[in-house]
Amino acid sequence: MKMDKKIIIANWKMNPNSLKEAKTIFNDIKVVASKLQSIQTVICPPFLYLNELTKSYKGHRIKFGAQNIFWEEKGSYTGEISPIMLKNLKTEYVIIGHSERRSLGETDSDINKKIKIALKNDLKVVLCIGEKERDEEGVYLEFLENQIKNALNRVPKESLGKILIAYEPIWAIGAESKETATPLDVYEIVILVRKILSKIYNREVASKIQVLYGGSVNFKNAKELVESGNVEGLLVGRESLNPEKFNKLLKAVSE
Ligand code: 13P
Repeated sequence: MKMDKKIIIANWKMNPNSLKEAKTIFNDIKVVASKLQSIQTVICPPFLYLNELTKSYKGHRIKFGAQNIFWEEKGSYTGEISPIMLKNLKTEYVIIGHSERRSLGETDSDINKKIKIALKNDLKVVLCIGEKERDEEGVYLEFLENQIKNALNRVPKESLGKILIAYEPIWAIGAESKETATPLDVYEIVILVRKILSKIYNREVASKIQVLYGGSVNFKNAKELVESGNVEGLLVGRESLNPEKFNKLLKAVSE
């Protein structure tokens, strides 16, 4: 579905190291993000900073997200954070199934449980999918299909309006990545994602879901990735910790 607003999600990952720095980065981003009508900015800081940042912000242009969630609402789960806690901190989004969490052992079944509890608690889910590498035979396409099918197992179609799918090929993520996906790579996967969703649900549902791209997005490639990649938004790592560059990125996509 073509949305009026493009959604730009800042995934700060395990950065920065102090609340003071987090506030500085946020305040610098806020100056630009709160002026852009055509962009929905979502900041996903580490859990620890969510409380302070959400409390300090009175506007409506910026939303907040978490980078993970636990699949139970409360109880004896040392070290975990529940969906209700997030809801109480004015958190609207949650990233689920990021490849960096999958590589630490998160399974499709964990991801499926997390999606269900997030939806139950009215959080918007940013479901990350992405292959480690591409192959000539197209095995990676099947891999992506399985990731989507397993993550959405028994998720009713009525909930799909609250799910965004972020295509983040692992080979394009982070400072070590040697390549960035081209807009054409992204375009093809957006079609694939919609085809898979048509098979699981129906065409109407598939056409409505928002598909995003993430992996080495910067202020120079952002606009073309959105326009020619045909995505509704971007998931940004490194560049989102540099307010000057991130603000340029926001402006570029808004033009
Ligand atoms: P980079 O933008 O640093 O490549 O990270 C992408 C990412 O993993 C966002 O979730």
